[in-house]
Formats: sequence, structure tokens, C-alpha cells
Amino acid sequence: MTAGQAPKVPVTLIPGDGVGPEVTAATVRLLDSAGAQIEWREQKAQPVVGRRKEDSQADPVIRSILETRVGLKGPLTTPIGMGHQSINVALRRALDLYANFRPVKKLPGVRTPFDAVDLIIVRENTEDLYAGLEHIVVPGVVESLKIITERASTRIARFAFDYARRFRRKKVTAVHKANIMKLSDGLFLECIRSVAKDYPEIDYQEVIVDNCCLQLVMRPGQFDVLLLENLYGDIVSDLGAGLVGGLGLVPGANLGEQCALFEAVHGTAPDIAGRGVANPTALMRSAALMLRHIGQASVADRIEAALYHVYSEARHLTPDVGGTASTEEFTAAVIEALC
Ligand code: NAI
Repeated sequence: MTAGQAPKVPVTLIPGDGVGPEVTAATVRLLDSAGAQIEWREQKAQPVVGRRKEDSQADPVIRSILETRVGLKGPLTTPIGMGHQSINVALRRALDLYANFRPVKKLPGVRTPFDAVDLIIVRENTEDLYAGLEHIVVPGVVESLKIITERASTRIARFAFDYARRFRRKKVTAVHKANIMKLSDGLFLECIRSVAKDYPEIDYQEVIVDNCCLQLVMRPGQFDVLLLENLYGDIVSDLGAGLVGGLGLVPGANLGEQCALFEAVHGTAPDIAGRGVANPTALMRSAALMLRHIGQASVADRIEAALYHVYSEARHLTPDVGGTASTEEFTAAVIEALC
């Protein structure tokens, strides 16, 4: 550390699977070039995480995040229909990262049907059908439990309204299916309505999830902050990403009282992994959220300005957003644009 320089902040780095190592390497390179004061502590996530409470505490990834309080994570593979439970879900649960925060904002230079999309997706991150409580009742019949609690619903509602108040967002819309799931989604809504009363300056609305999808693809500008249970939040996030040009662009954060884990919305993108063409923008934007979280907002500003510049010029974009640049070339252009 040279005189006058802030001390380095330890951050757990999980490169992840598929395109994960490609986009994390690009992001670390950008942050280091931008002068972020970070001491990276790299960890490999193993499926054993969170299977039992004792395993979670012992797991080196959990231990590292509990120590650093902040992590930056690439996507992790979850096998379909068989194999280990999702490590992502286990991490969120073990660290009680109850709020999943996903700003969906249009960048210049990316052609999409809508000119201005600026949504905040707030997803409850710890329960719902993601509780993973499934069992075979009899061969041919499976039961999957949807868990909704007053505590988690109230907590995520408080998070969404606090955010809206702090950042002067005008409206919070709760997304639900309480016409069918009268008890579970009904409880979710009841909790949000109760919290909404404490924020009279914020317009509060409700929309049924299927209609929400329709409205989003027709008139996304009518929404501001969307507040959803875990599964609806997962699905609507991908839809939101589609509105602004794809999964390569949308950042995210998993936030709790003790720790925060920043990651892109996208998965491991097995169809393009290893080809050097993944778009690292989503993770770079996630890292900018992280820099604000650890008090390095000026570095975040410079990174976001550089990204904005490269997208405005549209000369070094990756194939997912209509360009021909590799991950490497795009990253070099963003680093070049840092001022
Ligand atoms: P996916 O997000 O990996 O891919 C969906 C589509 O988006 C693919 O066409 C892919 O090429 C494209 N895409 C995603 N990220 C991109 C990027 N950075 N640049 C350019 N194009 C990109 O979703 P999929 O295929 O459903 O899931 C694959 C694996 O990822 C599964 O094992 C899933 O469980 C896991 N996953 C992990 C997540 C996490 O770790 N947070 C989140 C979502 C999925």
C-alpha cells in the first residue's frame, strides 16, 4: 500500500463453472486496472456446501465469505433432475442472503424493442419452492412443498420499500398468483400490504404473475420496482434481461444482514463456454454494485462510465449483443476507456 491509498478490502472470489472463469478473469482484470483496492481470496465451490448445517460452517467457501463478508461469484452448474442440490441455493441459505437485487437497465448501443427500460427486480431468496422439499408420495406422484413465511415476506418487503425510498423510486409492484395459491401467495401479499402502509409516498400495486409477463413484454415502462417470491423472481429476471438485450448484461446481488454475494443473473452458458466469446458485462456491473457496497463508489463510477462508452461506440461488443469481439477484446476496450 502506498501513502494515501485506502487499505485493500478482502473479497472472496468464486470463478464458478462454464463461462464463469472467463467472465470472472475479465472482471478482475478490469477492477485491478481501475484501481479497485481489493485483496482477492479465490475459492472453489464444491457441491457439499450446505447439505447439513455443520457442513456449511466447515465449507471453505462459506468460511471465507463469513470472514470477508463480501464475495464475487461466477455461475455454478446445477444438474437437471438428478445429482446434487443447487450450490447457489445452498450458499444463499447458509449465509442468509435473503434479498436478491437485480437492476435491469438498458445500455446504449444494444438494439432492443424498447428505448428505456429501468427496472429493479427484488426477489425473495430463501424460501418458496426453492426450499427443495420434494418427495415421492407413491411411484408416479411427487410432492413439492412451497414454503412462504410471514418473517421472510415481511423482511423482503421492507428491503424493497426501503430501497425505493432511499433511491426515490416511485412505485413498488408485488407480483403474485394469489388467485390460485390463496394461502401461500395470499400470505406474501398480506405481509407486503402491511409494510406498504409505512411508505405512503410510494405507489403500491399488485399484479398476477402471468399478466406481469404480458405487461413486461408490451409496456415495461409502467413498472419500477418489482417485488417477487423466489421462483417468480427467477423467471421474471430472465424475462427482464431479455428486455434489455440478454443475460450477458444484467447484474445482481444477494444481500443479507452479515454478508453480500455479487453475481450476474446468468448461468454457466454451456453452449458458449470455452469459446472466449462470453459477455462479461453482467459480472462487471455486478462488481460495480459490489464496489459501491464496500465504499469504493468512485471506482464503480469509472467502470460504469467506461462500459457506457464502449456500448455507445458499439465497436467492440460481444456476439450476444450483435458484435464480433471476443471477451478479451471487449475487456481491453473497457480498460482502454477508463479515465
Ligand atoms: P444460462 O444463463 O447459462 O444460458 C442461457 C442463454 O444465455 C444461453 O444461450 C447462453 O449462451 C446465454 N448467456 C448466458 N450468459 C451469457 C453471457 N455472459 N454472455 C453471452 N451469452 C450468455 O442458462 P441455462 O442454460 O438455463 O443454465 C445453464 C446452467 O447454469 C445450469 O446448470 C443452471 O443451473 C446454471 N445457472 C446458474 C446460475 C448461478 O450460478 N447463479 C443462474 C442460472 C443458471
